[in-house]
Amino acid sequence: MELNLKLNLDASTLKADFPLLGREVNGKPIVYLDSAATSQKPQSVLDAMDDYYRSINANVHRGAYYIADLATTAMEETRSKVQRFIGAASPREIILTKNATEAINLVAHSWGREYLSEGDVIVTTIMEHHANIVPWHILCADRGTRLRWLNLNVNGNLKLDDLDETLDGARLVVLSAMSNVLGAIPPIRQIADAAHEKGAVVVLDGAQFVPHLPTDVAELGADFLAFSGHKMCGPTGIGVLWGREDLLEAMPPFLGGGEMILDVTTEGFLPNDLPWKFEAGTPPIAEAIGLGAAVDYLADIGMPAIREHDRKLTAYALRTLPGRFGDKLNIHGPADTSERGGVLSFTFGDIHAHDISQVLDGEAVCVRAGHHCAKPLMDTLGVTATARASVYLYNDESDIDALADALERVGDFFG
Ligand code: ALA
Repeated sequence: MELNLKLNLDASTLKADFPLLGREVNGKPIVYLDSAATSQKPQSVLDAMDDYYRSINANVHRGAYYIADLATTAMEETRSKVQRFIGAASPREIILTKNATEAINLVAHSWGREYLSEGDVIVTTIMEHHANIVPWHILCADRGTRLRWLNLNVNGNLKLDDLDETLDGARLVVLSAMSNVLGAIPPIRQIADAAHEKGAVVVLDGAQFVPHLPTDVAELGADFLAFSGHKMCGPTGIGVLWGREDLLEAMPPFLGGGEMILDVTTEGFLPNDLPWKFEAGTPPIAEAIGLGAAVDYLADIGMPAIREHDRKLTAYALRTLPGRFGDKLNIHGPADTSERGGVLSFTFGDIHAHDISQVLDGEAVCVRAGHHCAKPLMDTLGVTATARASVYLYNDESDIDALADALERVGDFFG
């Protein structure tokens, strides 16, 4: 009974938790299919942030007065909630950042500049989004390191036949745990183990993975994991870098300022302990508290149930959409839902993705159109842009049916 409850969720009931999903667009009920870009926020997250500003608004780690203590405790509780949510060993390993992008930049700047030098190899993959490409390009330009790329197989996941050779001599391996275009989930543990055998450090971009699958950093086998709050029912402006404590301890600070010091003199400074060593300046307090409420919300529903729901809905879309549109509709990424999440990038005949999205918008269906901040992947797929529908816990089959009906309109319009 317990197991059954944990593997099922009722999206139509959950929808009521999200105020925005009650609104209309163009006189029609909104159909929100862009959660890979940002998720909607439940009332509990909005309330937590509102409550902070209304009742305990004070700076953290500074004031020795009642509401300052409450604010500090509320923010630090988020760190412990995140720690439990991803199976980290200690809250000292949880660094609060602005977003996943900043978390990846932190590793590139702090670990990369300290430990990599001329000629060192960083292995990455062709399905990364720009947040997990550009920081490494910047590092290469600065330190003379080199990028080596893992490519795609015919199923739209990573091709690992040549993994061993690709990893030869690698010092760092950086990859997405779930592609924001293909939905592909690579065999992370296999790659992490192979990378460790070569002595490389592994950085996972969990921006799409952590909101959708149960996450246990020990099981994933990575050394760093970056993700954002706003794709997992939390607010924008807050993200997380998890790192192994020994690695974080040995890294120099990223940004300098208040909070990240134990002492400052005219001669220099002494960095703070973990995790604050990496949190310069006043942190995004309300956003951190909102993230804590988002973690509570997801944990109450249960990540196994969310993953199962995503899989069922993705399978429904992969079955019904081609059934309705045939070869005209080309959905990228793996066909097998055991190796993908609910991110469905597609082309529709030769109609431009922006035209598709505009007609869909007229039907109140929200999808993203463009290169999805993954231009190297677009080049590999041989397209300049795709339309992308992405699902979450509040979507159900009626949303996929609404997408299909709206695509009929696209066909009629551009037919
Ligand atoms: N990386 C986010 C997306 O895929 C913004 O839409």
